[in-house]
Amino acid sequence: MGITSFEGKTAFVTGGASGIGLGISKVLAARGAQVVMADLRPDHIEEALEDFAGAGRSNQVSAMLLDVTQREAYAEAAEKMQRDFGGIDILVNNAGVGPEGPVLSATYADYDFGFGVNIGGVINGFVSFLPQMVAHGRGGHIVSTACLAAEVVMPGRMAIYAASKAAVCHYCEAVKPDLAEHGIGVSILLPGPIKSKIHETGQNRPEHLREGSGFAESEEQLARREVGDWWMEPEEAGEMVARGILDDTTYIVTHGIFKNQMRARAEAVLAATPDSETQFGDGDSI
Ligand SMILES: NC(=O)c1ccc[n+]([C@@H]2O[C@H](COP(=O)([O-])OP(=O)(O)OC[C@H]3O[C@@H](n4cnc5c(N)ncnc54)[C@H](O)[C@@H]3O)[C@@H](O)[C@H]2O)c1
Repeated sequence: MGITSFEGKTAFVTGGASGIGLGISKVLAARGAQVVMADLRPDHIEEALEDFAGAGRSNQVSAMLLDVTQREAYAEAAEKMQRDFGGIDILVNNAGVGPEGPVLSATYADYDFGFGVNIGGVINGFVSFLPQMVAHGRGGHIVSTACLAAEVVMPGRMAIYAASKAAVCHYCEAVKPDLAEHGIGVSILLPGPIKSKIHETGQNRPEHLREGSGFAESEEQLARREVGDWWMEPEEAGEMVARGILDDTTYIVTHGIFKNQMRARAEAVLAATPDSETQFGDGDSI
């Protein structure tokens, strides 16, 4: 079990109509999967579908409007996938937002927005789709997009973002062995800078979390940020994800540029850790 080829497989990609998600959608479709791009933004969906049409691949993709924070809508999406495709083989929990701003300005609206999409949306993906992925018995794979920000110490203005992505990592690491028993692989995508529209984060806030936000000014600044020429093309990240699925790689890391900071953080935790004669092994419970 597990994914050994993408031919004839059904993939559900959240935030699949832009940036990294679109790169993953394109690569999986090119390798023979039937891809459903689920996205909040009708304009992103329209552009992505045109892109597929231009490449002559319209028959391998479809799209649905979905806000991953809306649990009822997510459950309905999963039911539709069961009805239309006999359940999905690959779930890509990729939809995400990049709220950032001075920590002392942050309000609950900012916390609810960042955590709601970045970890809430991932949890909703697992809860909505796991029952059908276990029940159909074909096995499958779940990739969740975190960020290298989860592996390093970030500046305070990125605290909400980094913490929400760290939660994605630890959740996925913890569930991987249990899902392996059902032939379902689990991977975490840890991207560095990739060309995308993440600077449009402010546009992806629901109205009720716009009111009272302390990040309005920072999100306006973010909206003016230019995408760097040297940032990775989304399809390159998509290729890495495809390989990661086939190899059931736990961590799919796109860039090595934060290796020193990653090492420094791990070493700081170890340096603060007392020595102990007793060591827990893999099978021990804490
Ligand atoms: N681009 C980078 O450099 C980078 C680096 C590290 C991590 N990431 C992560 O990659 C993922 C994809 O982001 P991206 O950079 O491609 O940005 P993007 O904005 O181009 O794509 C994200 C897509 O998710 C959609 N989306 C946002 N909120 C949603 C919601 N509530 N429900 C459904 N769809 C929603 C957006 O409409 C958009 O189409 C995110 O999780 C982001 O945090 C990006």
